[in-house]
Amino acid sequence: MIYRGKWALVTGASAGIGATFARSLAAKGANIALTARRMDRLDSLAAEVKRDYAVETKALPLDFTDPTAPQLAMDAMSSEGLPVDILVNNAGLGLPGFYTDVPWPAHRDFLELMVTSYAHFVSLALPGMQERGYGRIIQVASVAGLVPGSSGHTLYGASKAFLVSFSQSLAAECVGSNVKVSAVCPGFTYSEFHDVNNSRNIVNKLPKFMFMEAAPVVEGALRAVENGHVVFVPGVWNKFVVWLAKVLPRPWAAAMVRGQSAKFRRQEG
Ligand SMILES: NC(=O)c1ccc[n+]([C@@H]2O[C@H](COP(=O)([O-])OP(=O)(O)OC[C@H]3O[C@@H](n4cnc5c(N)ncnc54)[C@H](OP(=O)(O)O)[C@@H]3O)[C@@H](O)[C@H]2O)c1
Repeated sequence: MIYRGKWALVTGASAGIGATFARSLAAKGANIALTARRMDRLDSLAAEVKRDYAVETKALPLDFTDPTAPQLAMDAMSSEGLPVDILVNNAGLGLPGFYTDVPWPAHRDFLELMVTSYAHFVSLALPGMQERGYGRIIQVASVAGLVPGSSGHTLYGASKAFLVSFSQSLAAECVGSNVKVSAVCPGFTYSEFHDVNNSRNIVNKLPKFMFMEAAPVVEGALRAVENGHVVFVPGVWNKFVVWLAKVLPRPWAAAMVRGQSAKFRRQEG
């Protein structure tokens, strides 16, 4: 119950890793503000955690491709006097195709969701955390942010590399305070992610050991932030991939990712 009485705001809480964060934080005593686009999902998760853990909840249906959404979420919290003690920046998706296959408005929305909304949320939540002398910020990045860029899903790795570097800078700026920041870098994780980006049939052919359930990703991330680990890679396989990309000569690592992603793209047709 280490978070009893704290308020956690979880983005992308209607499914997958975000919903798992919401359940786990509620189990540890936190009141939960849930946000994503699907209100029915948020309402039913809010009812579930209220029933199971007797915490308070708030559901905020918002689309983070709208640049005003983070401010609307924070205004909704502050209008009821609710602090954001724990911020889980998690909402996201993959945008299939090569860079020039995807029209600019889709890239722009992707960057708003995956980069700008994360930075905006932190700029709104961090001052209050610093003032109150307590804060936890978890940003859900990816193994893709720690290895060379792939072909296809062109901005995905770049957006996740941004989160890793951004989290490192924030953590450096918060040293000595009780505000802790971590980037969690999952690899393949069971969620709706691969249904949304239409790659379920392809990833289903991958060996099971490459996949993790969302629960150990989330439990590891919560331990990492409490222990001051700024970049956390869950799972043995994911750690191995990141280690390999680090120890291989840069051109070899790039060729490895290029080869794997080309194989993936061929299967996408
Ligand atoms: N699953 C993986 O293999 C994997 C691996 C590494 C990193 N990640 C990262 O983990 C995070 C969570 O993904 P997941 O695997 O849990 O996928 P998921 O099950 O598809 O959940 C994605 C969440 O993001 C929300 N979301 C998507 N677009 C949104 C928008 N425009 N505005 C507001 N919310 C939006 C979705 O809610 P609504 O549709 O209701 O809006 C949903 O709650 C993402 O940042 C992803 O990049 C996933």
